[in-house]
Amino acid sequence: MANTTVEAINKLMDKPGAIESFFQLTVHDYYTYTHSVHVYIYSSVLTREIIGDENEALLKELGVGFLLHDIGKKGISPEILNKKGKLDDDEWEEIKKHPATGYDLLTEISGGLTEEVTQIVLQHHEKIDGSGYPKGLKEIDIGRFGRIYCIVDVYDALTQSALTRKPCRK
Ligand SMILES: [Fe+2]
Repeated sequence: MANTTVEAINKLMDKPGAIESFFQLTVHDYYTYTHSVHVYIYSSVLTREIIGDENEALLKELGVGFLLHDIGKKGISPEILNKKGKLDDDEWEEIKKHPATGYDLLTEISGGLTEEVTQIVLQHHEKIDGSGYPKGLKEIDIGRFGRIYCIVDVYDALTQSALTRKPCRK
């Protein structure tokens, strides 16, 4: 896994602006940074189990998508990201913009990541039952890697301390 992590970081460094964006997120919201690393590790393991390890190039590309899935949160103020308690309607609307913001940002800086990879960023808050955002996609309308993210996100939520988990839903 350590080698794969290094390879994903190297892949990021091949993309002008990507590595800077990731480390800016470290400063902007440390919780999101640690969550992104967890998602990257768990998603990479699960994806490798599902698609096998023959397509190493795709696995690396997917690693970039999983690692940067929340990069759109750079556009949200720390006051909202770090708010204790429930978000009001306006704050929640701000939160819901981050998948599309992240998709635009990653598309801009990725220099040729496949659409399947950038869709991870756009679809990472969609839910199988259609209750997610930004589009309320259902079932197979959500890409397979977006669905893997949903599983991993729940696992990360269940295994993290309730004290460190930030509110992101009403
Ligand atoms: Fe997110």
